[in-house]
Amino acid sequence: MSNRRLKVAVLVSGSGSNLQVMIDAMQAGTLPIDIIGVISNREDAYAVTRATTANIPVAVLSHAPSGKRMSIATFEKHALAQLEAWSPDLVVLAGFMRVLSAEFIHAVPCAMINLHPSLLPAYKGLDTHARVIRSGDKHHGCSVHLVTPELDAGQVLTQAWLSVDEHDTAESLGKRVQKLEHQLVPYTLELIAKGVLDLDVIMAGQIDGFVSLPYRLWLD
Ligand code: GRF
Repeated sequence: MSNRRLKVAVLVSGSGSNLQVMIDAMQAGTLPIDIIGVISNREDAYAVTRATTANIPVAVLSHAPSGKRMSIATFEKHALAQLEAWSPDLVVLAGFMRVLSAEFIHAVPCAMINLHPSLLPAYKGLDTHARVIRSGDKHHGCSVHLVTPELDAGQVLTQAWLSVDEHDTAESLGKRVQKLEHQLVPYTLELIAKGVLDLDVIMAGQIDGFVSLPYRLWLD
C-alpha cells in the first residue's frame, strides 16, 4: 500500500461542484492529492472560476482562434498536449460532457476515471434520475469507473447508493445523488492514492485481487 501524493488533472464542462470538493480536500490536507491542472471545454463553466480562485492552472479549450467552436478532434489534440505537459498520475472526468474518442482515451498517459450519476451498469448516458423515477427503481446512486472507449462501460471502481423515496422526483433525486457524489469522489481518490485500488493492475485486467469491486458506500 503506497502513500504518495497523486498528481490529478480534472476535465470539466459545468458547475464543478465535484472539483470544488477535491480542491477543498487538497487545501485542507485531508486528501493526498495535488490538482495540477483543469481543462474545460467551456469558457463559461463555473468550474473555471473555481479553479482560478484556487490558483490551479486552467486550460480552456472551447474555441479555435477563428472564433469557431472547437471540434472534438481539435479539443483532444490540445488536451492531450496539455496532459502530456502536466504529466498527471490520474485524469478525473468530473462533469465533463463530451464523448471522447478511443484514440484519445488510449493516448492519455495515465489512468482516467469518470463520475457517473447512476448505479452502473444501469442507466448509462444522460437523464439518469428521470429514468430511475420512470422505472420505479428502489435504489439509485453514483459510480466512479475507468474510462474506456465504450461510453460509461469501464470497470466500476466505487459506488454510493441511496434508497429512492416514494416522494422523490428527478430533481430531488438529482440533489440527493449530488451529495453522494461529493462523498464518493474523495473516498475513491483516497483508495487510489493509498494503493488500495491499483488502477494499473485493474487496467491490465488482473482484477482477481479485486473480486469485491465496486467498493460500495451506502449513504441514505
Ligand atoms: C455530476 O452529476 C456527474 O455525475 C456528472 O456531471 C455532474 C457534474 O457536476 N458526470 P459538477 O460539475 O461537479 O457540479
